[in-house]
Amino acid sequence: MTDHLSDLDVAELFPRTPFSPDAPTPRISVLGTGYLGATHAVAMAQLGMEVVGVDTDPHKVAALAAGKVPFFEPGLDELLEEQLASGRLRFTTDVAEAVGWADVHFVCVGTPQTKTSHAADLRFVEAATTAIAENLTHDALIVGKSTVPVGTGARLRELVARTQPAGVRTELVWNPEFLREGKAVQDTLHPDRIVMGGTTPESEALLRRVYAGPIAEGSPVVVCDLPTAELVKVSANAFLATKISFINAIASVCEAADADVTVLADALGHDTRIGRQFLDAGLGFGGGCLPKDIRALMHRANELGAHQASSLLQQVDEINMGQRARVIELALDACEGSVLNRRVGVLGAAFKPHTDDVRDSPALNVAAALHLRGAQVTVYDPQAGDTARASFPTLGYATDVEEAVEGADVVLVLTEWDEFLDAEPARLASLTRRPHVIDARGRLDARRWTDAGWSFAGLGRTAA
Ligand code: UGA
Repeated sequence: MTDHLSDLDVAELFPRTPFSPDAPTPRISVLGTGYLGATHAVAMAQLGMEVVGVDTDPHKVAALAAGKVPFFEPGLDELLEEQLASGRLRFTTDVAEAVGWADVHFVCVGTPQTKTSHAADLRFVEAATTAIAENLTHDALIVGKSTVPVGTGARLRELVARTQPAGVRTELVWNPEFLREGKAVQDTLHPDRIVMGGTTPESEALLRRVYAGPIAEGSPVVVCDLPTAELVKVSANAFLATKISFINAIASVCEAADADVTVLADALGHDTRIGRQFLDAGLGFGGGCLPKDIRALMHRANELGAHQASSLLQQVDEINMGQRARVIELALDACEGSVLNRRVGVLGAAFKPHTDDVRDSPALNVAAALHLRGAQVTVYDPQAGDTARASFPTLGYATDVEEAVEGADVVLVLTEWDEFLDAEPARLASLTRRPHVIDARGRLDARRWTDAGWSFAGLGRTAA
């Protein structure tokens, strides 16, 4: 009898559902192939699943399909090549084909800040979710990973219900991602927690199958409701931002009192309730996540009437932005009040080391501000030269540290790459016009630099 059934009949008689405990290994689609999505797609393949990565940008898809990660992320290139070769991983712009093929669809698109307010721009999340819902051919689990304001998942559930074809069963859950750029591969393969928000027993079981590897290794699983899962993510970033602004606020007390914030942070960090991480005082936080996430949380908290959370984060943001102004002041001080026609060597453009990401980079912000005040600014970054040049084409760019500091009236260390911490201060001093260094990340060995003839300025360490 079955010999005479068409494909359509088979689909009707045996609708594919990934929710059944004995369904075959789920196939994965990942919508959005930026830092989050590309890493997630590769990691899912590494964990043994068949994966398709989907993006609307044909250039990104072509690069990834050819084994080239379109950004710098340590270890990802190798893993991408390995997984493409395994045959488990592919990339496409054809969302209909990908959604028709896969069982679990991860939404990994960006949620940038809107142009006119602090709110998150949810257009990409909505477009990706709509594309999934419109193209479903069988039961599926939609998993939000993008960072979204609390309440988004509930709205997306309504969108899916309105859009999906009749007869298909879907669930939409939230499973936020906590990966750090620069450590994205490690964080994705070995997450320090797996949050599953808004699951039923069936979708929880399915997600546990997807994450079987990390769970077996001991990654804790937190099962919660949808709004809690959404809030866990933004609260984690808000806490990290608050920790950084706290130490930066204390740094200004240290300066006024002739204390050293780097020693103070070490001492605080020995208290396991506090911990040493994210207590590096300096130029403050930037990047594609912390700044926009705390602003989106401020906005959402205000909408919900939780004004205290919003005003706390407003302070965090203000302290953070103030650090950039402080470093600009230090540069002006080093040049007797004006940088007009002075040469400024800038070491670092990325928002932190081990990435080429310059989104909301404090380093470039300072470099551009000094350029606007008439300085001749030359920037060097071991990885972010190209991305920096694309965003700030009017700055000068060097191909190494020595070229950046040559003839400089002041040198600013704005991103703490090892290459700068390990640099030879005596050799560099001989290249400058005047050996003034501003350590905006608090990571240089002040004694080594002063011994080599540099006048040294830092944040929160006047004594240094
Ligand atoms: C951050 C979070 O750490 C991740 O957990 C989260 O998943 C990610 O955002 C995201 O939402 O996608 P990331 O943006 O990669 O990760 O950067 P972080 O390592 O958190 O650093 C953020 C900024 O804080 C950098 O500019 C860094 O220089 C600065 N920072 C960090 C300090 O100024 N002081 C410190 O002590 C630590």
